[in-house]
Amino acid sequence: MEALRVEGLSKDFGGVHALSNVSFSVEVGERLAIIGPNGAGKTTLFNLLNGQLLPTAGWIQFFGQDITTMPTHRRAHLGQGRSFQIISLFLNLTVLDNTLITLHGTKRSRFQMFRPINRYEHLLTRAQEMLTSVALWEKKDEFVKNISYGEQRRLEIALTAASEPKLLLLDEPSSGLTAAEGVDIVTMIRNLGTDITVVVVAHDMDLVFGVADRIMVLHYGQLIADGTPEQIQADSRVKEIYMGIEEGTGNARAS
Ligand SMILES: Nc1ncnc2c1ncn2[C@@H]1O[C@H](COP(=O)(O)OP(=O)(O)O)[C@@H](O)[C@H]1O
Ligand SMILES: [Mg+2]
Repeated sequence: MEALRVEGLSKDFGGVHALSNVSFSVEVGERLAIIGPNGAGKTTLFNLLNGQLLPTAGWIQFFGQDITTMPTHRRAHLGQGRSFQIISLFLNLTVLDNTLITLHGTKRSRFQMFRPINRYEHLLTRAQEMLTSVALWEKKDEFVKNISYGEQRRLEIALTAASEPKLLLLDEPSSGLTAAEGVDIVTMIRNLGTDITVVVVAHDMDLVFGVADRIMVLHYGQLIADGTPEQIQADSRVKEIYMGIEEGTGNARAS
């Protein structure tokens, strides 16, 4: 079953072809990484998928439904979750309070308005499970501003995943993290249920090769390669683009 289908998608900014005639589809449960040098159009593609931008041409289907011009909040309602490159937590609240607020807004609890006595207990149980699973339960009473950047990132992804999205869009989830913190993010993404389809934009090749079962390469707005990690590693055009950036380290960064 297709989670996402994109056909002939283009976006111009004045004379700049940020994205040119891009077509692909993503199967339910797939882990797709989108890579490419700075300015390749990755963020533009994400913003089109998410509804923050409207395309110049082309269309997008989400589980068979046309969402090309659908506003962002409606896409979220259909099951698109997105973690932003910039941390979007309440910094002056505790880890637990951030979690309770998010869980309160998710579909599982939203319709339990008439369970005033056990509702809080129910949320607390879920919060404990969730925070334990990402090794943050010990930090539950810390203000978010006082935990490390890596912990903030882990919390943010966990909270995005808590809304049980059908599609999780992750934009540079390991940017600004230490190598060890990046490994935690890889583990988290790997541990997500396969009912959650994941599309991740990343520069970090450890993350890309750690989580992706498929990689797409954008270059000057065009989709120049689409295949398994092995196929992408062996692709001569991709090699050419990344050659000399950090050759031979297995950790090419385009920025
Ligand atoms: N809002 C905008 N207005 C004008 N040009 C833009 C805008 N957003 C992106 N661009 C241009 O579109 C191209 C692709 O940008 P972007 O999608 O941010 O690339 P990436 O995320 O791969 O680094 C770049 O040339 C960029 O300068
Ligand atoms: Mg970008």
